[in-house]
Amino acid sequence: MPSILEFLRTRRTYRRFLPKPVPDAVLREALEAARIASCGSNRQTLKYALVQSPAAVAEMNRLVRWAAYLPPAQGYPKAGETPTAFIAVFQDESLPGVNDTDAGLALGSLTAAAWAYGVGSCIMGNIDRAQIKTLLGLSDRERLRLHSVVALGYPAHQSHLVPMREGSTPYYLDENRDYCVPKRPMSEVLLADL
Ligand SMILES: Cc1cc2nc3c(=O)[nH]c(=O)nc-3n(C[C@H](O)[C@H](O)[C@H](O)COP(=O)(O)O)c2cc1C
Repeated sequence: MPSILEFLRTRRTYRRFLPKPVPDAVLREALEAARIASCGSNRQTLKYALVQSPAAVAEMNRLVRWAAYLPPAQGYPKAGETPTAFIAVFQDESLPGVNDTDAGLALGSLTAAAWAYGVGSCIMGNIDRAQIKTLLGLSDRERLRLHSVVALGYPAHQSHLVPMREGSTPYYLDENRDYCVPKRPMSEVLLADL
């Protein structure tokens, strides 16, 4: 069992995957982690859609956009590297109290629960919301706002946290096509330490 920090260091964004399905039980455990996440006033405004049939996953994959910092030839998963499941996260605006902090906490729990089984993920906001709702059969549910989707699968690459160089935040690939993800140093983000 790694320390929590080692776990969080490796719980990164993954964008290329092995052609090996994620077990249904793992996906449902990730959903359960999201379902029980903390939320403002315990209002529980989030709803989910699970996509794991290969045909529907392939359709979803056409409606998401990968790695804006990289040329598509580098950032998009090729055939055989695509995710094997997606989870869509909706905000139910028919309920009071919708807020993005709740969505962020649920996404954090969902992706951590998946990573506990070695399942990597990519939270995706650059998506075709209208087409995804249609694919999911939810286009007539006007009060359901598609917040994001999470692509899931067993990673086919590594991702390393690296020191930031000259204030540059974009991730990049190294010679092994592994992701390098610069993070700002503690000295920059810790504003007060009394
Ligand atoms: C709200 C949110 C939306 C994101 N949308 C996308 C996306 O549409 N496509 C993509 O490839 N990555 C997306 N990402 C992944 C980020 O690019 C990634 O988290 C960031 O580069 C830092 O990498 P890390 O997660 O490994 O720390 C998103 C992440 C978050 C939190």
